[in-house]
Amino acid sequence: MRIPHDDGPEEESPRRKRRASAKPEARSATVPKGGAGRVVEPSAAEPAEKGPNTEIRPQTFDEYIGQAALKRKLAIFVEAAKGRGEPLDHTLVHGPPGLGKTTMAHILANELGVQLHLTSGPAIEHKGILAGHLTALAARDVLFIDEIHRLSPTVEESLYAAMEDGRIDLPVGEGSQARTINIDLAPFTLIGATTRTAMLSGPLRDRFQIIEGIELYGDDELALIVERTAAILGMAISEAGALEIGRRSRGTPRIANRLTRRVRDFAQVDGLLEITEKSASVALDTLGIDGEGLDANDRRLLTMIIEGFDGGPVGVEALAASLGEPRDTLESVYEPFLLQRGFLLRTPRGRVATGKAAAHLGLRLPPGAIGAQTGLKI
Ligand SMILES: Nc1ncnc2c1ncn2[C@@H]1O[C@H](COP(=O)(O)OP(=O)(O)OP(=O)(O)O)[C@@H](O)[C@H]1O
Ligand SMILES: [Mg+2]
Repeated sequence: MRIPHDDGPEEESPRRKRRASAKPEARSATVPKGGAGRVVEPSAAEPAEKGPNTEIRPQTFDEYIGQAALKRKLAIFVEAAKGRGEPLDHTLVHGPPGLGKTTMAHILANELGVQLHLTSGPAIEHKGILAGHLTALAARDVLFIDEIHRLSPTVEESLYAAMEDGRIDLPVGEGSQARTINIDLAPFTLIGATTRTAMLSGPLRDRFQIIEGIELYGDDELALIVERTAAILGMAISEAGALEIGRRSRGTPRIANRLTRRVRDFAQVDGLLEITEKSASVALDTLGIDGEGLDANDRRLLTMIIEGFDGGPVGVEALAASLGEPRDTLESVYEPFLLQRGFLLRTPRGRVATGKAAAHLGLRLPPGAIGAQTGLKI
C-alpha cells in the first residue's frame, strides 16, 4: 500500500498542535508556604513515581544522574543569581517525555532555596488563574508551567508582560464598571517545560533568557538510575542486571524506573534476593520489551512503515493516521529513540525504516526502498 506523501512543512501552527497534544491534563499545585525546596507531586499523571515511604525523584544536582553539561551550566546560573540576590532568569527546558524536565524544575527551586509553584498550560484556563499564580509568588520564587506550549493565546499574552515588566493587567468589574487594574509582581522565575520547542510561539520562546534541552540518556546513565531506584525500593541488583534494564529503557529515566519496579515484581515472586541480568532479561521479554529496548508501539510503527508503506518514505501525517496516534505523540514520544538508535530516518520526503529495523523485526524491505540501500544499514 502506498498513499500520497503529505509531509508539508515540518512544523504546524501552534494552535493545531495544541489540539494534537496527547498528554493528559495536569492539575496545578503549589508547594505550601515555608516549604522552600520541598517537593510536592504536581499531578495525578505521575503517581507511580512515589515509593511507599521514599521519594525516587532526585532533589539536588548531585542526585540528578547524567546531563553533565546541562547541570554544570544551570549550577553556574543558580549560583550567580543567588550571589546577586536576584531570581534566576526565566528558563525553558525542552525534551521528550520522562527525561527529567519537571525534576529539574524541582531541583532548581531547591538549589535556589525558594518555593516552587507548579501548574501546567492546560490548567491555566484564563488570565485570572494566571494572575492568581503570579500574585501568590514571593520574591525569587519559581513558577513552573508544564506543557507551556498549551497555553491559550490570551493567557500567553498576559504572561509576556509578567515576564518582561513584572506586572499583570487584570480586567475587573463588568459593563460600565469595567476597568483594568495593574498589579506589580514580586521578581520571579518562570520555568517552562515543553516536549518540543518548535511547538512554542516565537514571542514566548524569545522571552526566555535560558533555553536548554534534555537529551536521551545513555545506557550507562540509565543503569545508574536503575541502581539508585532499586536501592530506594530496597531491592538488590547486580551491575549487569541494572545495565540490562537501563539498555532497554528507551533512553528515558521514567521508563527505567517503571521497568525497575516491574522487574522487581518478577524477582520477588520468583523468590530472588537480587535482580540479575538473567532475571531482568526474562522479565523484560515477558513485558514485551525486546533486546534492543523496543516496545510494542515501536515495533508497530516500524512494521507499519515496512509493510504498509514499502519501507517509506511516508509522510508523518499519513503515518500518524495509519497508527491512530496524534502526530505530536509520534514526533515527541516514539521517534526520538528510534532515530537515535538508527531504526528510523527522517528525510525531506518522510520517514524511512532502516535496514537495521527490518533485520531486527525479521522483515524484508523491498529492493528499491531507501532504507534497503547500502550505507543506510546502520
Ligand atoms: N537525571 C535523572 N536522574 C535520576 N532520575 C531521574 C532523572 N531524570 C528523571 N528521573 C526520574 O524520572 C522521572 C520522570 O522525570 P520527570 O517527571 O522530571 O520527566 P519530564 O521530563 O518532566 O516528563 P514529562 O514531559 O512527561 O512531564 C522522575 O520522577 C525521576 O524519578
Ligand atoms: Mg514533567
